[in-house]
Amino acid sequence: MDKNPIIKILEWYNEAKKSEINDPDAITLATVDDKGFPNIRTVLLRKIDNDSFVFFTNYNSQKGKEIEQNNKIAFSFHWKTLAKQIRIRGITEKENGTVADDYYNSRALGSRIGAWASKQSSILNNREELLDRIKLMENKFKSNPPRPDFWGGIRIRPLSIEFWKEGKYRLHERELWKRSNIDDDWSIKNLYP
Ligand SMILES: Cc1cc2nc3c(=O)[nH]c(=O)nc-3n(C[C@H](O)[C@H](O)[C@H](O)COP(=O)(O)O)c2cc1C
Repeated sequence: MDKNPIIKILEWYNEAKKSEINDPDAITLATVDDKGFPNIRTVLLRKIDNDSFVFFTNYNSQKGKEIEQNNKIAFSFHWKTLAKQIRIRGITEKENGTVADDYYNSRALGSRIGAWASKQSSILNNREELLDRIKLMENKFKSNPPRPDFWGGIRIRPLSIEFWKEGKYRLHERELWKRSNIDDDWSIKNLYP
């Protein structure tokens, strides 16, 4: 048995890349607000490292503020073509150095300008307002916008990972990997479906 669950995640993810029509890296990400009310949304998981995962977003968005207040989050993959799900719970840290710069610089110019123009999750009075802000940022930065300091990565270090594989008669296979701290070894248990 591999002692790093990320090896198995990569196996499943690489399989999904071959069969999913689009966005095999789409995850459903859950955070909680200051009243303990959960919030979910889809984001793209852009990096899977040996010990952690990274997605990119606006730090001033709803999710950004919720993560700032509470760094415990959860997310899941669901690959319909594989009938597989992975659920992950973990703790976050900001990834706002060269990893974020490199990813930002790899994006299309329109997306880089868009990151500057969008006050993600704030009230937008009308579409014109956004289009005006895009023009403003295009004029300001021309073809070379730097990464905004309010936009970057969130790195997630996992504490719990459940692999779910569909079984006949709904008798699915569930394998739960857990550890109390990020430096601990993983324990592996199976769960009833
Ligand atoms: C397929 C898909 C991929 C998305 N990827 C991202 C992403 O990588 N980063 C992001 O900030 N929002 C992404 N979004 C938009 C989010 O779902 C969400 O609308 C936005 O981040 C605002 O969420 P918040 O108000 O909870 O902060 C994506 C939406 C979809 C449907």
